[in-house]
Amino acid sequence: MAYSANNSRNSAAGRTLGASAALAPHLPFLYADANGLGSDIDAVLDLLAAHATDTFSTALDLGCGKGDVAIAIAKRFGWRVTGIDACKPFIETASVEAERAGVRQLCTFHVGDILRLDDKPAPADVVLCLDLGAIRGDHSSTIRWLSGFVAPEGLLLYADAEILPDRKETADWFLNYPEASEMEAVLESGGMAIAEARRPGALEESERAERLLSSLIKRGVALAQKHPDIRGELERYLDFMAREQARHGRDIVSVTWLLRHPA
Ligand SMILES: C[S@@+](CC[C@H](N)C(=O)[O-])C[C@H]1O[C@@H](n2cnc3c(N)ncnc32)[C@H](O)[C@@H]1O
Repeated sequence: MAYSANNSRNSAAGRTLGASAALAPHLPFLYADANGLGSDIDAVLDLLAAHATDTFSTALDLGCGKGDVAIAIAKRFGWRVTGIDACKPFIETASVEAERAGVRQLCTFHVGDILRLDDKPAPADVVLCLDLGAIRGDHSSTIRWLSGFVAPEGLLLYADAEILPDRKETADWFLNYPEASEMEAVLESGGMAIAEARRPGALEESERAERLLSSLIKRGVALAQKHPDIRGELERYLDFMAREQARHGRDIVSVTWLLRHPA
């Protein structure tokens, strides 16, 4: 299977993680201690355990990052998992980690821009698109486009943030997220029905955000010592992340939706 070469790969990675182009090559180091790049792996595994059928054998993780979710699925369910991400260093990390986890034979990782795939992958029983945002312009179009990768009666896992009830009035750009009911309607307008959604409690959400932030700060300090030229960029990025993560559990919550493809 061929995936298109594209010199904007690293900037795609940077954009989704909110980092500048200068910082993009350093993201794998910065996120090395983070379990996933924002998505809730336990929620994904729980949802799949509850909804997958015995006939399932394949998963496709679009924007798989450093492969944490794909590897966890291969380990837990024994399915063949394909992961695609625009960031080459993330994909290199994913391959090494799959080997370390003993599931290398089940995992295939490719560097590629998922919006410009030369060869569309075969429909998979489970498709994941976690924390990439509305990459086709809006959530409805994104879900409709993603459904083209899902086998009949297969599942789509989609993750993003939504604003907590009563926090809309404090809206600023950080809080430019829909409320739960709005988001559900928009997602279902993409042609797949929501079977279940996982929303962590406020405490769980803020603890997860704190863990992520402290791992980034620890790595950021080491990175700034090694690359003083990017110290300014790094400080701006960590400041941005600190402000964003502080909203988790207070104003916004990360949600994982499971949608079912019609037969
Ligand atoms: C916030 S991270 C989430 C990673 C992973 N899904 C997870 O939950 O751990 C977003 C990822 O999407 C990737 N990405 C963004 N746009 C992409 C594109 N057009 N093609 C491929 N990967 C893309 C980035 O490189 C980054 O690894």
